[in-house]
Amino acid sequence: MQGKNICVSLGRKDILHDVNFKADPGHVTAIIGPNGSGKSTLLKALAGEIASTGTVTLNGHDISELKPWQLAAKRGVLPQSTSVAFPFKVHEIVRLGLANGLAAQDDGSVTTALAHVDLAGFEQRSYQTLSGGEQQRVQLARVMTQVWQAQRADHPSWLLLDEPVASLDIAHQFTVLGIASDFAAQGGGVVVVMHDLNLTALFADCVYVMSQGTVWGSGTPSNTLTDDLMQQVYGINLPIGMVPTGPLPFVLPQAMHKCIEA
Ligand SMILES: Nc1ncnc2c1ncn2[C@@H]1O[C@H](COP(=O)(O)OP(=O)(O)O)[C@@H](O)[C@H]1O
Ligand SMILES: [Mg+2]
Repeated sequence: MQGKNICVSLGRKDILHDVNFKADPGHVTAIIGPNGSGKSTLLKALAGEIASTGTVTLNGHDISELKPWQLAAKRGVLPQSTSVAFPFKVHEIVRLGLANGLAAQDDGSVTTALAHVDLAGFEQRSYQTLSGGEQQRVQLARVMTQVWQAQRADHPSWLLLDEPVASLDIAHQFTVLGIASDFAAQGGGVVVVMHDLNLTALFADCVYVMSQGTVWGSGTPSNTLTDDLMQQVYGINLPIGMVPTGPLPFVLPQAMHKCIEA
């Protein structure tokens, strides 16, 4: 998946300026950056959900030339927040993914997807009665049913996930990012907006760092999660350590006390 010279204006405001982006199948590509830096807007542009200039290609095809069903069959999108106005049951929400992904019928994939996100047995629960984290995992199950079966080595499927672990406890953060990793290991592509820098370092193969609607850096976690770049984009002194067995960058917020005192 590639975006070239992507610009997005909303209202009278320029939100993205000339963003170049590339994500490879088989890899987890993370987008990080401060609130309002344009991460969700970039994800929506890559998904073909908002008007943008420049070009976005998916498996070599310009997405503006793909029909909606062709797009839906190849990429599933988990938005940052999803409101459900009607009293749907959990299995009805997950089944929407099947409809989007053009699968003929439910061959157990709803149940399987729910089990993957640790919600086995939740099929008949009313969506509205779930906790925020449970709702988020139901939405992920929906997206999984949309694209999982379409996975083919020569024509990968894509998961575009906007802050999928924001409302999850640490165990379920690992569950969900593990699902994303497995998807990539099977040849799929994953683009995921993240806030937690440690989880980003652990799960991402490639990181894009955004600020003020542009890309300020991209590369491996070790090359991008640096003191300088984090200082530039977040405006605070975040001393980055390195796990010796990695090498894997980590942020220890407690270390900031020393910086503040020094
Ligand atoms: N529909 C809109 N109209 C005007 N401004 C918007 C709209 N949507 C988002 N923005 C602005 O675009 C900027 C980037 O938003 P967003 O991509 O959601 O940021 P992020 O996901 O990095 O927090 C923000 O300043 C936000 O206020
Ligand atoms: Mg966002």
